Amino acid sequence: MHKVNVALIGSGFMGKAHSLALSELSVLFPDCPLQPHKYVVVDVNEELAKTAAQNLGYEKWSTDWESVVSDPQVTLVDIVTPNDLHKPIAIAAARTGKHIFCEKPLSLNAQDSYQIYQEVEKAGVKHGMGFHYRKIPAIAYAKELIRQGKVGEVFAFRGFYLNDWAKDPNGPLSWRFQKAKAGSGVIGDQCTHAIDIARYLLGELEQVCAWVKTLIPERPLPTSVFDALGRKTEGRGKEMGKVDVDDACAILFEAQGGILGILEANRCASGRKNYLSFEINGSRGSIYFDWERNNELWYCSNDDRFEEHGYRRLLMGPGHPYGQYFWPIAGINIGYTEAVAINFYQMLQAIVNDTDCDPDFEDGWRIEEIVEAALRSHEEKRWVLCHAV
Ligand SMILES: NC(=O)c1ccc[n+]([C@@H]2O[C@H](COP(=O)([O-])OP(=O)(O)OC[C@H]3O[C@@H](n4cnc5c(N)ncnc54)[C@H](O)[C@@H]3O)[C@@H](O)[C@H]2O)c1
Repeated sequence: MHKVNVALIGSGFMGKAHSLALSELSVLFPDCPLQPHKYVVVDVNEELAKTAAQNLGYEKWSTDWESVVSDPQVTLVDIVTPNDLHKPIAIAAARTGKHIFCEKPLSLNAQDSYQIYQEVEKAGVKHGMGFHYRKIPAIAYAKELIRQGKVGEVFAFRGFYLNDWAKDPNGPLSWRFQKAKAGSGVIGDQCTHAIDIARYLLGELEQVCAWVKTLIPERPLPTSVFDALGRKTEGRGKEMGKVDVDDACAILFEAQGGILGILEANRCASGRKNYLSFEINGSRGSIYFDWERNNELWYCSNDDRFEEHGYRRLLMGPGHPYGQYFWPIAGINIGYTEAVAINFYQMLQAIVNDTDCDPDFEDGWRIEEIVEAALRSHEEKRWVLCHAV
């Protein structure tokens, strides 16, 4: 069994999810010819990096991503930092021949994302993207139903990503509220997942007409404080700072083949926690999914008798995509880190088989083009084509 030495850069919320997924991988996917080894974790200071190495199970720690990226022992660089660092780390990693897994969004904008995509292609390294949600069996099965023609000709898609983690105006001005560090707001953060699912299920998005809004225009500046475990928390000071990105967005789109689409994302939608959902209507039926009940897929077939027509709940189990890797009975259920584990498993297979990762940096770049087209549409109050080429 060959080992892949992983360098995790950034040990926050998502760094923990990646670490759990890497730990699960050998148990869930014993057939994987490559297995990850949690070699080194990087964070901004010794306290954070050292604590992360202990808690998340890495052999070593560092505070210097540049030296880690050029360490010959490292095979795969896993970028899980705030968005402004994705580009420099990815380009440095590509130039030293490392395979790269990068969290979404790929970078701050479409131009930078294209440059990163060009660099990894030139270097011939594998590049995977953190659009993990599409890896869950229910969403993969939705694609299967569409492919089998069970929905008929798809004519409408409506997707939402609503949550309320940002609803408190006293919540500090973290990097997610700053354009220089995040690139954009909820549109580049949550909404990119909904865009990814739309592209995954329908094909390319062609044009958009969008509207975005900042709901809480200023927030207390954070004070960097550390909790008992040494994790940085976003304590708040008295001074206020400006939020220069969006908290809410609504996008009308046309996908290839003339499919009508609607997307909405909002991080101040009280009562919604992780409501990543979509509904698809076609000539033979419909599909509905909601991440908060992520082991369920709702399917309606127009072949059903009139009296029995309506949505039926399919509970994911061993017969559905990736089901053989999990539990022998439907309804035992899997969750967030398993979606991340499937994504890593497929990237390791892409390394072995010399195939493309799915999703990869090309998807990351295309999605940034869609985000940028939507922001331009908002500014210019018109429909905008998503892609120049
Ligand atoms: N795919 C998903 O579902 C998903 C979910 C959440 C976050 N994300 C993405 O993951 C990335 C990280 O988000 P998060 O929620 O984990 O953020 P976070 O703020 O919780 O963690 C970021 C970590 O990066 C560290 N960091 C900052 N600068 C660094 C540097 N120079 N070197 C090393 N480490 C550094 C921070 O100290 C922190 O520990 C973002 O790009 C975000 O968009 C993806």
